[in-house]
Amino acid sequence: MSALTFTSTTTTRRVGDDERARILAAPGFGRHFTDFMARARWTAEGSWGEAEILPYGPFEISPASAVLHYGQEIFEGLKAFRHADGSIWTFRPERNAERFQHSADRLALPHLPVEDFVASLRALVAADEPWVPQPEGETSLYLRPFMFANEEFLGVNSSAIADYYLIASPAGAYFPRGVQPLVVWVTDEYARAGAGGTGDAKCGGNYASSLLAKKQAAAQGADEVMFLDSESHTFVDELSGMNVFAITKDGRILTPSLTGSILEGVTRNSILRLAEDRGLEPVEQRLDFAELTSQIAAGEITEMFAAGTAAVITPIGELRAHGGSWTVADGGSGETTLSLREELTGIQYGRVPDRHGWLTRL
Ligand code: COI
Repeated sequence: MSALTFTSTTTTRRVGDDERARILAAPGFGRHFTDFMARARWTAEGSWGEAEILPYGPFEISPASAVLHYGQEIFEGLKAFRHADGSIWTFRPERNAERFQHSADRLALPHLPVEDFVASLRALVAADEPWVPQPEGETSLYLRPFMFANEEFLGVNSSAIADYYLIASPAGAYFPRGVQPLVVWVTDEYARAGAGGTGDAKCGGNYASSLLAKKQAAAQGADEVMFLDSESHTFVDELSGMNVFAITKDGRILTPSLTGSILEGVTRNSILRLAEDRGLEPVEQRLDFAELTSQIAAGEITEMFAAGTAAVITPIGELRAHGGSWTVADGGSGETTLSLREELTGIQYGRVPDRHGWLTRL
């Protein structure tokens, strides 16, 4: 039972029908936003106050708000999918809600109960129903819950006040080139997160720390950046905002183990399960970058891909680093990669039976 009730303050839409149809025809990623947003405040009394659905738009924040100075912020990413019968579903939302609590613990923010997290998704998607794309193509409504410290205070302390918001954005492919194989630049200079840091929390700081390396990757003509572990610069961690996988010729699917500096992706977990179901051996281990590239060169690693809610499953065709470049097989999209992608999106859009019970109706 949800304790919070997200009540609507208005039903007046911000965006007209024609404009919404134009946006939904080619939404891209993260550029367009819906009519409404959800909000709840954690007050200095130590509880969640009023929860509401209100018009999407800018809000006021004090220049002294803690989040602007010390980055005490967390977020999540999940999607709402419309099925052929018009019903709307989301994928494993309780895992995102639990990870949100894990991130909150690490960033000294309050817990939002799982039921309230899901209640906010339900309330916003009900208000923004026309924004959930039709199931043709591969568009969905990306849901972005976030929470930030909002006490007006410059001391370095955890904030007594936190604001929870949920916004929504119609989404097509995350990468501008769609599902074309990625070129990934491997940085030996920067790390995304270190031991004892915030790497396994979904907080803005981890993404901020990836941006310079991502800029350098773009300057090398690459689509993404791969980070190695901060201590030895030997083992693969993850990309700027997604987990990484490799498939071997002898039927194993490899992904870096959860060392504390890697985000435990919901897509990551689902792929391991789907891969195991089809007879691949899931292997979570530290992935030595030098071994990985020699296995690519020897043809023992035949496919690689990036995985996340936004990226879904996107093939990796080439790794580049100061020391050289390695083309994965023929540099194209691997057969198993595409087939896993088809199965995962098939479940999400209701085209493939949901045998693991991963879908929740909104
Ligand atoms: C997601 O996949 O939902 C993320 O939060 C990652 C970000 C690159 C969009």
